[in-house]
Amino acid sequence: LLKWLVIAIKLIVIPSNIYQIIKFQVLVNVLVVGSGGREHSIGWKLGQSNNVNTVFYAPGNGGTLNNVQISVDDLDGLANFASENNCFTVVGPEAPLAMGIVDMFNEMGLKIFGPTKEAAQLESSKIWAKQFLKRNNISTTSFEVFDDAVKAKEYVNQIEYNVVVKADGLAAGKGVIVCDSKDEAEKSIDMMLVDKKFGDAGNNIIIEERIDGIEASYIALSDGKIAIPMATSQDHKRIFDNDKGPNTGGMGAYSPTPIIDKDLSQKIQEKIIDKTISSLRNEGITFKGFLYAGIMLKDGEPYVLEYNVRMGDPECQPILMRMDSDLFQYLVGSVDGTLEKMPPISWKNKSAVCIVLASKGYPESYPMEDEIFGLGKAFDDAYIFHAGTKEQDKKIITNGGRVFAVTALGDTLESAIKHAYGATEKISWKNKYLRTDIGKKGLTYL
Ligand code: GLY
Repeated sequence: LLKWLVIAIKLIVIPSNIYQIIKFQVLVNVLVVGSGGREHSIGWKLGQSNNVNTVFYAPGNGGTLNNVQISVDDLDGLANFASENNCFTVVGPEAPLAMGIVDMFNEMGLKIFGPTKEAAQLESSKIWAKQFLKRNNISTTSFEVFDDAVKAKEYVNQIEYNVVVKADGLAAGKGVIVCDSKDEAEKSIDMMLVDKKFGDAGNNIIIEERIDGIEASYIALSDGKIAIPMATSQDHKRIFDNDKGPNTGGMGAYSPTPIIDKDLSQKIQEKIIDKTISSLRNEGITFKGFLYAGIMLKDGEPYVLEYNVRMGDPECQPILMRMDSDLFQYLVGSVDGTLEKMPPISWKNKSAVCIVLASKGYPESYPMEDEIFGLGKAFDDAYIFHAGTKEQDKKIITNGGRVFAVTALGDTLESAIKHAYGATEKISWKNKYLRTDIGKKGLTYL
């Protein structure tokens, strides 16, 4: 009887195991960590893959389905969910990467896309990144490091050029102050080192030479051995039109940018991206994930202003809207170290423009919980990625500074701008704010 029982169990269990293995290989669940427009667009694109079953978002927003209420810094909660639901995890924002989510998941045998804590230092410590650039002869501006406000101010008053003051740690895109005068530099130093506006993230600061040129974003996908370029893009970091006012996380972006032509793209790829990946390897660090170089172009030469170790937000939205290839396959290629076997990513021969709709007052304080109208309208030419929204009593209300990332394709940059702005007009709430010149600087270079 026992023998027959064992055979019966094998007949039931073995096929179901095989089914699980096949299912995992061909159809997996994805957990997108984050709640912004970038994460909505990553999930939207991954959901189009034939290999992806359900896309979960932690914690997601008012526009994403399958939200799980786990915050991005609850690494145990995220790992438990990913493990219980057989998820391939994709990390959107930098904070969990800097906390070591990838190291933790790797130790637990869970599949996760993104760099380790050590590799994430490229973004989590601006000082570490600058010193890395310097010792590896990767083009960047000159800089000094300070933890003392008096010495920092003395230095600023000795030098002749204008400076950029940067908090060492993560400050949600706000810890970089581009100064127009010595007075502004002194105020920025006090704000970080004395008033502690960014808390411990501003215990140490960098004072770097300000160079004025054209800024663009160059993002590549790496598996630690090679890096393949994503489409080029340009962000609009300042809050007001014509690049005035304080820095934000980004008020709009478009892709591709004519500012980075084929030759320049090759130069950035070789001299900055490939060199970064190989220099990291030489230092014993394998970088897997999106490597984002914030570039300043001056007299045709690219300088690294900063690194990010994840997709840009909002650059991600227009880039992914133009991506024809299956994003999931490439993210798996990064994790498995097999990118060299994959074909180049294919892109739609179109332009995409993303306009951020924000709440008035962002990037400082802004009202929340305004009711949003117009989302039920037809958006034929555009996709409305949600960011700071949430659903409450069957209504969508504002829940953050950047509320939507309205993204549209067009045959030309001009038509993509027109489609995207057309769509922004359909959405309204009491404190809606947007820049009116997104993409315009791209037109001047065509
Ligand atoms: N858009 C700039 C960033 O993602 O940091």
